[in-house]
Amino acid sequence: MTEDLELFDIIHREEVRQNTTLQLIASENFTSRAVMRATGSVLTNKYSEGYPGKRYYGGNQVIDEVEDLARRRLCDLFGADHANVQPHSGANANLAAYLAVLDAGDTVLGMRLDQGGHLTHGSPVNISGRFYNFVSYGVTESDERIDFDQLADLAVEHRPKLIVAGATAYPRLIDPEPIRKIADDVGALFMFDIAHVAGLIAGGMHPNPVGVADIVTLTTHKTLRGPRGGAILCRAELGPAIDKAVFPGLQGGPLEHVIAAKAVAFLEAAQPEFRDYAAAIVRNARALAAGLAAEGFRVVSGGTDNHLMLVDLRTFDPELTGKVAQEALDRSGITLNKNTVPGDPRSPFVTSGLRIGTPAVTTAGMGECEMGEIAGLIGRVLRRPDDEASSAEVREQVGVLCSKFTPYP
Ligand SMILES: Cc1ncc(COP(=O)(O)O)c(C=O)c1O
Repeated sequence: MTEDLELFDIIHREEVRQNTTLQLIASENFTSRAVMRATGSVLTNKYSEGYPGKRYYGGNQVIDEVEDLARRRLCDLFGADHANVQPHSGANANLAAYLAVLDAGDTVLGMRLDQGGHLTHGSPVNISGRFYNFVSYGVTESDERIDFDQLADLAVEHRPKLIVAGATAYPRLIDPEPIRKIADDVGALFMFDIAHVAGLIAGGMHPNPVGVADIVTLTTHKTLRGPRGGAILCRAELGPAIDKAVFPGLQGGPLEHVIAAKAVAFLEAAQPEFRDYAAAIVRNARALAAGLAAEGFRVVSGGTDNHLMLVDLRTFDPELTGKVAQEALDRSGITLNKNTVPGDPRSPFVTSGLRIGTPAVTTAGMGECEMGEIAGLIGRVLRRPDDEASSAEVREQVGVLCSKFTPYP
């Protein structure tokens, strides 16, 4: 067979990019080589529609062991009754959860997208917003934290069938208990999407919503540091409906090579070192937020409790948009993403803010000292975003930093 030099050269260049520039996208991480080995294994060859012991094709004896192991490890990690490890992504996990417990047109409460919620929490351009009647809650103007009074009022007014918690750009801890109470008061089901903070929960840094929420959905590739994918945890009674919604409701054959890699990640996340890792992510996020504040940036809500921070650029430079800042930092070897901030007057394509996360740089071994250095580099680029010479200098310093903390040496 011909060797595909063209494609593998592209992959090699991506490896160089990850090794030599700073990865500060809050939803990204560096998986272990064991996770990548499982992902690249012969398990990719097998069709296994169905679930362990109930497959549509023959030859699944070994595959059943893989999926059982992944389910068992995930249940143990979060103390859950039931796990489905087949969702191809976080978006699929959320959709499957909706399909399991909702009918088209049902009312759901979810977090506002421009204040931290995810597309799958009711965006009009996503199937969630087209098939279900999502009503949004947000954060307070005063402290930029979830407005539980508004959430309770909306629940009483709209009587949702489901309340969705969880966010994609929210820097504070979300306590599941008050949301459970609001859901109980109006007879709603409660789903917590822990896509972003799954690793912080597994590592003991945030409260575990399993056992409090009826359904917990997650991605396996963010703070949890596994392969790209999703999973669902739920109470035992909801298990059959969840499983039916994932397959045959939404997906065809499961990606058993990815499920195997999820099993590897769940084992890694159950180790004592993972608790140290989760604590280091939060420590680094706090150090980076403090460093950015010292550079003159306004950090939304005044800081962070998790792996990410939102930076409002308007006080630093009213003309500087998130889009321009992201591009200037990209040219300087610093990868992060533009993001709306609460009350943002600009569109989601332009924005007035940045979202910055520490899971990947923490995996690479950086600590609080490096976070201070990174804050300084970001400040330097954004004071003169069009200055090519300064960008080149920062890029060089980024290269030196990354050479000391290389994820894939
Ligand atoms: C809160 C939340 N839910 C769901 C998802 C979707 O995950 P995926 O990109 O794997 O579909 C994301 C991804 O960013 C997310 O942040």
